[in-house]
Amino acid sequence: MTVLPIRTSRASGAGHPIHPLLAERFSPRAFAPTAIRIDELRSMFAAAAWAPSAFNGQPWRFLVGIRGDSTWEAILGSLDRDNRRWAGGAPVLVLNVARVTWNGSAVSTATYDLGQAVAHLTIQALADGIHVHQMSGFEPEHLVDFFDFPAEFTPVTVMAVGRLGDPEGLPQDLRVREVAPRERVPMSTLVFSSTFGKAAPWISDTSI
Ligand SMILES: Cc1cc2nc3c(=O)[nH]c(=O)nc-3n(C[C@H](O)[C@H](O)[C@H](O)COP(=O)(O)O)c2cc1C
Repeated sequence: MTVLPIRTSRASGAGHPIHPLLAERFSPRAFAPTAIRIDELRSMFAAAAWAPSAFNGQPWRFLVGIRGDSTWEAILGSLDRDNRRWAGGAPVLVLNVARVTWNGSAVSTATYDLGQAVAHLTIQALADGIHVHQMSGFEPEHLVDFFDFPAEFTPVTVMAVGRLGDPEGLPQDLRVREVAPRERVPMSTLVFSSTFGKAAPWISDTSI
């Protein structure tokens, strides 16, 4: 599949302009040690809380670790080796949890809803100059034991939260990735009208 590099700001708005917050968002690995204020955290989680969800079920839960506390340490300790190389630089680490069963039945949209809440949180954070890097590379069992989860809840992702740091502080291979252009597949491979796989007529390959 062709991958188009994006070169203007963090994302191109050349063909289909998008909001500057969406264009500027990316998943950094270099974080500044600056603490995130409590009012900023409150706004982030309020944004998540106002996300839509199936039947307004709001199946998301968040365990927030602030550097120096036991939640932050536990989340860091659950990360895989690659993520642990950089995520310890983040002043806040969050475990994102979904309620995947309700009254004994599986909730098929729970992780979808959680992801949407995290997307809202991410953009609210960026409006306050704070970046979010989501991760699936962690050991959920480690955290289920640590936090003693109720059975209907399951850890889904972790996120590192903080202000941008200096990429020079990263190991060489991660520094290269930090400043590389973001890439996306062409819009023509994503958006169809009458035939699956055939680009909608109003989509152009050069406009991502
Ligand atoms: C569900 C999910 C899991 C991810 N897991 C990891 C991870 O374990 N480690 C990592 O470095 N990045 C992880 N990422 C970040 C993606 O690699 C990143 O979003 C993608 O490469 C696009 O880059 P961008 O966010 O800068 O646009 C994850 C993102 C999502 C949404």
